[in-house]
Amino acid sequence: MEKPADTRHPIHDLLARRWSPRAFADRPVAPDVLRSLWEAARWAPSSANQQPWNFLVATKYDPQEFCRMVECLVEGNQVWARQAPVLMVSVAARLDRDNDPNAHAWYDVGQAAMSLSVQATALGLFVHQMAGILPDKIRELYQIPASHEPVTGFALGYPGTPEQLPDKLRQREIVPRTRKPIGEFVFTGRWGQVSEIAKG
Ligand SMILES: Cc1cc2nc3c(=O)[nH]c(=O)nc-3n(C[C@H](O)[C@H](O)[C@H](O)COP(=O)(O)O)c2cc1C
Repeated sequence: MEKPADTRHPIHDLLARRWSPRAFADRPVAPDVLRSLWEAARWAPSSANQQPWNFLVATKYDPQEFCRMVECLVEGNQVWARQAPVLMVSVAARLDRDNDPNAHAWYDVGQAAMSLSVQATALGLFVHQMAGILPDKIRELYQIPASHEPVTGFALGYPGTPEQLPDKLRQREIVPRTRKPIGEFVFTGRWGQVSEIAKG
């Protein structure tokens, strides 16, 4: 299933088509496809080119490892994310090259995540990010050092159908995607003053 954005102004097809499904097809993702996703993440911009991202990955090619990562998600995410063929967790490096706190690390990890998501869309896959992860459990299971911090989980794969999902999730899968209008978040001159351009 696809759920393209109902845009008010033209945007690139890949951005319009990217969305966060909960239903995934029972189809594996080939290793070269995964490498293209990480390559897209690799070329994301980052503060001082520090590239403060890491990704932990688990695929259904290795069921035991996959189950381990499923258990790092909150229950509400486990229900649907366990159907995806690939799970990942992004991890941010807290410190910069000089061992000072990197205030932009999470921002940069987010940019890498979006690059990966857009590349996934171009390859016919979809990515569903999750804040609902268990960071302490992830840290322990994967022996993540204190210098690094789990950020989000990702479920990804080829699109499935809403019929695969339990009732409540099926409804959420088919409701239209919505966004605030541009006029609510683009200001000019002072805080809260909507730009005339944004009203167009
Ligand atoms: C950082 C982040 C955390 C998210 N956490 C969850 C989550 O834990 N569970 C979930 O079902 N969806 C989660 N989502 C998906 C969002 O709900 C989704 O992106 C948003 O509703 C917009 O829908 P769209 O991506 O289909 O356009 C998360 C998305 C992001 C970017």
